Amino acid sequence: METKVMPVNEESLAYAAELLQNGQLVALPTETVYGIAADARNGEAVKKIFEAKGRPQDNPLIVHICGMEMLKGIVSEVPERAKKLAKAYWPGPLTMVLPRGPEVSEVTCAGLDTVGVRMPSHPVVQAVIRRSGVAFAAPSANLSGKPSPTSAADTFADMDGRLPLILDGGECTYGVESTVVSLTGEQPVLLRPGYVTKEQLEAALGEPVLVSHAILEKLADGEVARSPGMKYKHYAPKAEITILEGSFDAFCKYVADHAGEGVWGLCFDGEADRLPVPCIEYGSENKPAEQAHKLFSALRDLDRHGAVTVYARCPRRDGVSMAVYNRLIRAAAFRVVQI
Ligand code: TXA
Ligand code: MG
Repeated sequence: METKVMPVNEESLAYAAELLQNGQLVALPTETVYGIAADARNGEAVKKIFEAKGRPQDNPLIVHICGMEMLKGIVSEVPERAKKLAKAYWPGPLTMVLPRGPEVSEVTCAGLDTVGVRMPSHPVVQAVIRRSGVAFAAPSANLSGKPSPTSAADTFADMDGRLPLILDGGECTYGVESTVVSLTGEQPVLLRPGYVTKEQLEAALGEPVLVSHAILEKLADGEVARSPGMKYKHYAPKAEITILEGSFDAFCKYVADHAGEGVWGLCFDGEADRLPVPCIEYGSENKPAEQAHKLFSALRDLDRHGAVTVYARCPRRDGVSMAVYNRLIRAAAFRVVQI
């Protein structure tokens, strides 16, 4: 299959709408990462997403909408908590897990009786949904297990030959996937951290939000993940990454002791000059939003340079940093060394 990469204009938007209406796939930018869209009601269309990504069938997809009226049929109930969060953070980088409605295909939800729903703020997503009338299921546009793409070029690198159209809408603003919060139980549960933080959710809801422990730690063998996506190895470049937790001085010393062929550093802005190995910088130490924006493209850069062993500076674990830490620790297959 030929994969067209088109700038966003009348012609490409019309083509995207036609593809979605005909049960085909479209890759497109959102404010978080690039996604692969298919009609959430059409099981055959959604199956093509799983094939294109090589994604395990038991990992459910998020349904994207462009107005509150579109929730009808997609969810069976809009709880008060969902109304509060929608008011505060929709459109935006927040996904809510709610009771599933009758119109969503079983394939989209991997057979669960819940559905993740998100109203993105990106104008291209809104235009495509409005034109097509299609609420679409969309996971990140990477091959399963790879870092999520934050540009059309990174999307093309993974999806060339696997789908007909990539809409090129430039770089994504946030660079990490949406915050996922479950509202189907007794208490709200944070399933995946993102740009909307736990503290912000608690402020909007007026109650505490539990943090699924799978966010910051590895699941024990045999433990069941509340969010199926948490159990897979994720965001992993080819290089073997180890996170070094400690001061920058200790980091410099450790890397100097372990320098050698194929060894790279993944560090904060302005630090590369002090290190004896080549480095990719992923944002300022005190600017977690910048780190979120740069992390995935930094991981892809390390692969392009042929890095074999990578030592990474450790992000904090609170606020937006929780999202950065959550992605990096998976890319590092949970290897963290205290230095
Ligand atoms: O920012 C985003 O959310 C991007 C863009 C494209 O919108 N999409 C995205 O989708 O990251 P994906 O498929 O890569 O991640 C969806 C996550 C997975 O961890 C999945 O397990 C979880 O959301 N999820 C989806 N539906 C769920 C459900 N019903 N219950 C629990 N977890 C769910
Ligand atoms: Mg993903």
